[in-house]
Amino acid sequence: MRFLVTGGYGFVGSHLVEDLCSSNHDVTVLDNLSNGRLSNLESVRNKITMCMANIEHIRTLHFGDKFDGIFHLATAPRSSSLMDPMRDIETNCKGMMAVLELARAHGAKVVFTSNSGIYGTAPAGASIDESSANNPTTPYDANKLVSEYYCKIYHEIHGVRSLVVRFATVYGERQQVNEKLNWKPLVATLVKNVVNNEDVTINGDGEQTRDLIYVKDAVDGVVKAMASSAGDADICLLSTNKETSVNEVLGMVEEITGQKARIIRSEPLKGDIRRMKYDYGKAKRKFGFEPKYTAKEGIDKMVKYAKKNLHQ
Ligand SMILES: NC(=O)c1ccc[n+]([C@@H]2O[C@H](COP(=O)([O-])OP(=O)(O)OC[C@H]3O[C@@H](n4cnc5c(N)ncnc54)[C@H](O)[C@@H]3O)[C@@H](O)[C@H]2O)c1
Repeated sequence: MRFLVTGGYGFVGSHLVEDLCSSNHDVTVLDNLSNGRLSNLESVRNKITMCMANIEHIRTLHFGDKFDGIFHLATAPRSSSLMDPMRDIETNCKGMMAVLELARAHGAKVVFTSNSGIYGTAPAGASIDESSANNPTTPYDANKLVSEYYCKIYHEIHGVRSLVVRFATVYGERQQVNEKLNWKPLVATLVKNVVNNEDVTINGDGEQTRDLIYVKDAVDGVVKAMASSAGDADICLLSTNKETSVNEVLGMVEEITGQKARIIRSEPLKGDIRRMKYDYGKAKRKFGFEPKYTAKEGIDKMVKYAKKNLHQ
């Protein structure tokens, strides 16, 4: 099949593109490299068509043959959306609309990667599921929510087929800290700090939790979402239904590396979510999604990767 992957040079996108190439699909990758790297797709450089462009300008591009499916991952990061809210609207809202217009013209199905952070904090002990109330706390989450509505509207009015997946906290090899964009993903930051013997900043008491999904599980979910017959713009969580605190992640990194962290305590982050635990039952029923990796297994892989790529 012929696929477009937006944001394909990024962290999750590059794993997805490799997966699609290994199944011999025809893959075009669109990215502006604001947070992606060419080296992320070195292994499939000769198999893909590269399109260096801003997602919001997609309508001015000519792609030749029609796409069967569009995986829409290009995004401005959550962490920079309070610093640069206009950029967030450009990329996340206008980008989504541009993708839906392209999908309409091509008759392509869209899988859109949204964010579970839209729900806000989970009640103690309980899991959040798709019926839980939305409570976006940053412009990024609000714009992801608006984009989900665009998918629904385009399905109802124009018959564009799509599925929305709301990722929990994805982590894995190639995830990078980007100081310029204030992008400091939890596991990547802690692994980098400990492996490079840098100070570790813990915001708040470190008891805030994340539902950590390893990148190969996340990719498996979006591939299954695209392959499924469902296309009614429905929303499904891709998660593990397990909570891991920041302190627990640090403990695992210390144990795996055999190195002790130098901790600096800091203020809680603005807009941070206290508890994250998401039920993936709907994705399981709808397209057979089931995560395979434990946090310890995934973090072990990340540590091995970081040790090979020290100081990145
Ligand atoms: N990583 C997570 O924990 C997580 C959690 C929830 C949702 N998501 C979603 O999953 C998707 C992938 O996330 P990721 O962690 O791989 O992020 P990433 O930043 O690594 O990838 C996004 C890619 O989009 C590109 N991009 C940014 N602005 C663009 C623009 N205007 N035009 C074209 N390309 C542009 C970047 O260069 C980057 O390569 C995103 O949609 C994100 O919102 C990720």
